Amino acid sequence: MSTPVVKTPYRAAIDRITPYSPGKPIEEVARELGLDPTSIVKMASNENPLGPSPKATEAMAAHLRDVRLYPDSDGYELRRALAAHLDVPADWLIIGRGSDEVMHFLAVGYLEAGDEVVMGDPPFSMYEISTLLMGATPVKVTLRADYAHDLEAMAKAVTPATKLVYLANPHNPTGAMNTAAEVEAFVRALPPHVILVLDEAYCEYVTREDYPDSLQYVREGRNVIVMRTFSKIYALAGLRVGYGITARAEMLQVMRQVAEPFNACNLGQWAAIASLADPDQVPRSVAANEAGKAYLSAALARMGLPYVPTQSNFLLLDTRQPCRAVFSQLLRRGVIVRTGDIFGYPTMIRVTIGTAEENARFIAALEAALAADD
Ligand SMILES: Cc1ncc(COP(=O)(O)O)c(C=O)c1O
Repeated sequence: MSTPVVKTPYRAAIDRITPYSPGKPIEEVARELGLDPTSIVKMASNENPLGPSPKATEAMAAHLRDVRLYPDSDGYELRRALAAHLDVPADWLIIGRGSDEVMHFLAVGYLEAGDEVVMGDPPFSMYEISTLLMGATPVKVTLRADYAHDLEAMAKAVTPATKLVYLANPHNPTGAMNTAAEVEAFVRALPPHVILVLDEAYCEYVTREDYPDSLQYVREGRNVIVMRTFSKIYALAGLRVGYGITARAEMLQVMRQVAEPFNACNLGQWAAIASLADPDQVPRSVAANEAGKAYLSAALARMGLPYVPTQSNFLLLDTRQPCRAVFSQLLRRGVIVRTGDIFGYPTMIRVTIGTAEENARFIAALEAALAADD
């Protein structure tokens, strides 16, 4: 006799969530299309193609046997290394399992039904997911024509119900940036009850001079948290290490209350510390990214395809064709990108800037994909 299935009711908020849509993993594409995994290039998740610092891999090797131990939940050594690197006190820092987890701390700590969270449209999707998870309401504000945040419109969208405002700078998925002057005006326009989350996952890639010094707002003791990550330029995405910086003791307290113990793994913490000690990792990665950006921009201009000028390690471009079809054509040629339809851009794709070889592969595959008629 089979056991009758009685389903346990779950929270109503769950049905409102569209799960995060990650870039396709290489192994999955290889399985689905019968391709050799080593022939596939993934340019879908804004990972650093140069890989981590050799100092980070050495540190991991040296600490491999430590995986039997729980990590330091307080992230003491990593906070000290970051404090020295950023010139802020170590007790302004909170470590997360990626900056995604810092967003989760804020959502779980601050949001409930009736609360509003202001974000760009399209937002980086985890802002919306973490908001919906708590039964709160995302208030999405259309980006400007240049694909940067419309900070004036976002300030106007703030109400007494607003708890958090997210500003990804540079933004993902567009790569566009808001300037220091724009952010300054925005910070001053926000009412004090609102927490401004400045998400700077890609800040190390920025080359424009008018990029904001967001730590100045932290130092002023404003209701601000800056989020950064080791997933992008430090190439440690698989280890999941991110962090938040705020001078607000009450915010840190709330986040610590909701954090799981042992969230950031010990190998990740050691690798992050070692990465900070490598003076070459950032300049080497920026130089490769700038060269890739110049190559891709020139190739797209030659092909007559519009793209958003980027301050990041990815490019959003308009293929002028339905993006799913272009995506499939690229996949067949072993190149994984991200489709723009998930962001509301049905003819666009987002491509991570790769090595010179990967970028050339992408352009050749894109030319063939756009010419293909099946
Ligand atoms: C704007 C932005 N913020 C945050 C993240 C999350 O990064 P992680 O959780 O790996 O630190 C990403 C990752 O793609 C991102 O693009």
